Amino acid sequence: MGHRYTAIDGFYKGTRFIDELEALGEKLACEVYGADWASLRPLSGHMADMIMISTLTKPGGSILSVNPVNGGYDGIGGKGYPPFVNVKNLFFPFDSERMNIDVNKAKALIEDEKPSLVVFGQSYFLFPHPITELADACQAAGSQVAYDASHVLGLIGGGEFQRPLKEGAAVMLGSTHKTLFGPQGGIIIGTSRVKELVKDRQFPGLVDNAHWNRMAALIWALDEIRRRGAKYASQVVANAKALAKALHEGGLPVKCADYGFTESHQVFLDISGEENVNRFSEKLEDANMIVDHGIRLGTNESTRRGMKVRDMERIAELIIRVYKGEEPGSVRRAATRLRKEFKTIEYT
Ligand SMILES: Cc1ncc(COP(=O)(O)O)c(C=O)c1O
Repeated sequence: MGHRYTAIDGFYKGTRFIDELEALGEKLACEVYGADWASLRPLSGHMADMIMISTLTKPGGSILSVNPVNGGYDGIGGKGYPPFVNVKNLFFPFDSERMNIDVNKAKALIEDEKPSLVVFGQSYFLFPHPITELADACQAAGSQVAYDASHVLGLIGGGEFQRPLKEGAAVMLGSTHKTLFGPQGGIIIGTSRVKELVKDRQFPGLVDNAHWNRMAALIWALDEIRRRGAKYASQVVANAKALAKALHEGGLPVKCADYGFTESHQVFLDISGEENVNRFSEKLEDANMIVDHGIRLGTNESTRRGMKVRDMERIAELIIRVYKGEEPGSVRRAATRLRKEFKTIEYT
């Protein structure tokens, strides 16, 4: 499968088994996400975003999304894809205390600007977005509604976080390798309203060959989400909340303490100054704990290793030791010992 081609128009022959596999994957994705159609062909989350923008806007149109300065994805921001297709960027008014879209101001903006496309979802993503609250305004403005689920696709598949297609999005897309624990890749799914506009037009201008070895692995991951996603996703969120609470109690500046810290797999440390952020994350790396820029922590990978709430408290304790100035070298051994207790993959 690593070497084969197929084409939607039947150009290549001998593709019967691969065609069956693709049909199975699309059926599974529709079942897991409550969609009318699915395409597993986008090679990455970014490519799925490009398909969304190319099919749901026209040159001269506009796209409303979360500003990268507020944790939006810069691939669809002003330095990303929209300028290449002459689409203007607009950004949601954002409440950075609550780390969410400001509903009333967003409503007014949608009414005034009538964006061609409104995209919910972001990269730094703690709380569900107000799709339901803004759906009527989008409809009245004639805006298409999409949801970039790159980070939360595995949570949504397990019934956590939110249900974008039920709440008013016509298209949902994303990476398949974050909370959805598949191979690196992308997916785009949607309601029947936009099938002709999106799925039926993507080939051959926006997707062609689809990398069938990746597709096989993705279908396996979708099946695991279907069977065990509910347990996995609820544990990921419980772990994130436990990690945030333990860090907060240990004196770290955890973002959104007044709002329950998080409803996703992510936890943010609100450390000010680029230099301080880099210094702390490098110290953690010296202690064998790798965190993301910002500082953003995620519990999906450790949960898949079988870690539970009590293990999050143990991780928090190690992070707190580094934060309080202990030599990373002495924490490193404890971090490695903890990690060695979790050698198998769960929810599979
Ligand atoms: C919200 C969001 N959308 C899309 C992407 C791009 O996904 P990929 O890395 O699969 O191309 C990212 C990347 O992290 C992202 O955060």
